[in-house]
Amino acid sequence: MKGIILAAGAGSRLYPASLPISKILLPVYDKPMIYYPITTLLLAGIRDILIITNPYDIDNFKKVLGDGSQIGVKFSYAVQEVPKGIAESFLIAEDFIQNSPVALILGDNIFHGFGFSSMLKEVGTRTHGATVFGYQVQDPERFGVVEFDKNNKAISIEEKPARPKSNYAVTGLYFYDNNVVKYAKTLKPSARGELEITDLNKIYLEKNELKVEILGRGFAWLDTGTFESLLQASNFVQSMEINTGMKIASIEEVAYRMGYIDNKKLLDISKKYKNNGYGKYLEKIVNTV
Ligand code: DAU
Repeated sequence: MKGIILAAGAGSRLYPASLPISKILLPVYDKPMIYYPITTLLLAGIRDILIITNPYDIDNFKKVLGDGSQIGVKFSYAVQEVPKGIAESFLIAEDFIQNSPVALILGDNIFHGFGFSSMLKEVGTRTHGATVFGYQVQDPERFGVVEFDKNNKAISIEEKPARPKSNYAVTGLYFYDNNVVKYAKTLKPSARGELEITDLNKIYLEKNELKVEILGRGFAWLDTGTFESLLQASNFVQSMEINTGMKIASIEEVAYRMGYIDNKKLLDISKKYKNNGYGKYLEKIVNTV
């Protein structure tokens, strides 16, 4: 399975905070926002990741993440010139995807919850059909919305419906088989001029090949779209990290625990951050495992 992180938006809702740099590189507490979606893909067993950025921020992403070899994975980069829709990712990434199944995550989607790692591990092995994740929200009209029948089978998906048929939003994490490129090529721009990810999911739904996994109560799917929600996400991560003594979405820790880097490599990385708690945390992992 290959992975794509879509991080090409202008982030204009966070101007002037995101004027100097992509929103996806702004910190969520102690690490850049993109660490969170990277970790999600790593936990699904994905090591070959394409990062799609806008033309202005690509060098900043490269500066932060490099080619991935430092954590035993492969990062490559592509540009989306204009934000013409989430589903355009699969047209931009056609050469990258080749014959593989592929997962897509939006760069500003942060997930955290008990059991997520094992769920991802299992979903990451699926090679047929599509899998999306449903999460109960108070304002479903802001999202893609999935409706279920009595047997919890998905029966409709609508993008930002005025009258939502359920409270279940479709989150920004999607797993597809290799047909996704072929299907994406058939999409037409919506009324807002975008190639809609919801239209792509509808194709799978109509073929009876869409699975919807529910992220239940106690699970956190965090929004970072406004000043308030970005600060709340930072506060959430800080509070969880202080309470548990464990970091959320440290790409170095996850790479180590997945066996992509060894003790020595993790210790080397920890030295880079030796003056702060992040480096000390990585050093502690080496010394306690
Ligand atoms: O977050 C989940 C929601 O994401 C889903 O429930 C919706 O079905 C899906 O359409 C999408 O909702 P939005 O339309 O509100 O997404 P937004 O336009 O805010 O874009 C999400 C992120 O993707 C954001 O960081 C910008 C980036 N993006 C978006 C588009 C359309 C791109 O990089 N390129 C694009 O062309």
